[in-house]
Amino acid sequence: MTDRYAVIGNPISHTKSPLIHGLFAAATHQDLEYGAIEGRIGAFADDARAFRDAGGRGMNVTAPFKIEAFELADECTERARLAGAVNALKFEGGRILADNFDGIGLVNDIQRNLGCAMAGKRVLLLGAGGAVRGALLPFLMQRPAELVIANRTPDRAAALAQPLAAQGAVRGGGYADIGGGAFDVVVNATSASLKGELPPIPPAVFAPGALAYELLYGKGLTPFLRLAQQAGVQRLADGVGMLVEQAAEAFEWWRGVRPETRAVIDRLTVPLA
Ligand code: ATR
Repeated sequence: MTDRYAVIGNPISHTKSPLIHGLFAAATHQDLEYGAIEGRIGAFADDARAFRDAGGRGMNVTAPFKIEAFELADECTERARLAGAVNALKFEGGRILADNFDGIGLVNDIQRNLGCAMAGKRVLLLGAGGAVRGALLPFLMQRPAELVIANRTPDRAAALAQPLAAQGAVRGGGYADIGGGAFDVVVNATSASLKGELPPIPPAVFAPGALAYELLYGKGLTPFLRLAQQAGVQRLADGVGMLVEQAAEAFEWWRGVRPETRAVIDRLTVPLA
């Protein structure tokens, strides 16, 4: 019988997950069906259980249900527990297993696809929302020289960094606390670009040869990427690679087969300019 999977979110019409997983399944000859479900606000657990009870094997979870999915899980990984949010569920023997592949997807895109190893580098993460929470442990595991989290509300960034102090060189605060010195990797994980706004960072945060990464994808040159470009940054990227890489992690977790990502990323990429 064909195994069933789905992505659940609200809204969900924009999702690229069925396309991505459909391409992975075709390329790896996996017999599966992958749909999209508009979850009901306030009824996430019921909707997820209903999918499982109808024979579903696993789900991707997107906004606004990542925290509820974490609460629903019987078991989750350390990185998911630290993020307090999950983006993938696996239904196995009556149990709900959960993981968060957003951070590792971002790490894989930066390191493997964009060729920017983070070990020994200075890394700046802008924002303190769910995207940053999911990225912290996977980022620290690459052993950057320093990981700085800067957020409009400084306390949120400081609170994220504090419990991770034992895991590596990490600190968090406001934009004014970023300090001197340039960064090799700068990731905009704020929602500022959705509103055409720019986090208040000086052009000097970009080191020579830096990578400027906008988590949002398919929006061309956002204000953040424009600032980076004007500062002379040549390595500009949006989050399409992260989207495909996190999907590949989930696919492998569910199916035990690692799909190739390059062709799928190329198919989904919208040129930045
Ligand atoms: P999610 O959890 O889905 O990532 P979120 O919790 O709403 O979303 O987080 C959005 C992030 O973008 C926050 O870090 C927010 O800063 P605050 O914590 O101070 O609210 C940040 N953000 C939103 N608009 C911004 C702007 N115009 N400039 C800088 N940061 C902004």
